[in-house]
Amino acid sequence: MDVLDTHSGKSVVIVGLEDEEIIRGIEELEKITFKDAAVNRWILAPFIEFGRVYALVDEFGFVIGSCEIFRAWQAEEAHLFAISIHPDYQSKGLGKFLLDVVLKDLKKWGVKRVKLTVSPKNDIAIKLYESFGFEKEKFVENLYGEGEDRWIMRLEMKD
Ligand SMILES: CC(C)(COP(=O)(O)OP(=O)(O)OC[C@H]1O[C@@H](n2cnc3c(N)ncnc32)[C@H](O)[C@@H]1OP(=O)(O)O)[C@@H](O)C(=O)NCCC(=O)NCCS
Repeated sequence: MDVLDTHSGKSVVIVGLEDEEIIRGIEELEKITFKDAAVNRWILAPFIEFGRVYALVDEFGFVIGSCEIFRAWQAEEAHLFAISIHPDYQSKGLGKFLLDVVLKDLKKWGVKRVKLTVSPKNDIAIKLYESFGFEKEKFVENLYGEGEDRWIMRLEMKD
């Protein structure tokens, strides 16, 4: 487990397959924040091995945030699959901290463009993404099923 950065006792780490406790913590957090759309360990494992999974952990090692990324076939592009902060810790700047560390790490690995999808109803997430320079690229109706519309957003990383 590599620690990338720490802010007020909260650290962003890169999760490895051996980090059992953290994987369990991400599963629990995902259930709370994404419910039916939560990822579990079966999905986290290939994300960890072939993409990258970041966790935000508190002073005691408990998972309070997570972010899953995979690389596109186009080598310079990445997809931000999900980011979440535990409800007890939301609106305290931690989503911003986590995303900042994630984007810096992706840049270090040569990623030049990041894409994601977000619900048009998720104003907070849209604000978060726009504050990093993400722009709305396309609106797709029913992307994830009936009524599950999404914005596709895109960030061109600056050198
Ligand atoms: C979206 C999410 C990751 C943001 O994390 P967070 O820690 O709550 O956000 P931050 O405190 O870092 O705030 C980031 C920006 O979001 C906006 N924001 C945060 N809380 C807000 C609130 N209660 N009301 C309005 N805007 C808010 C602000 O623009 C803020 O930037 P600013 O403080 O500079 O104005 C978090 O709310 C979350 O986990 N939501 C559930 C899962 C989800 O929807 N994930 C995104 C889709 S994958």
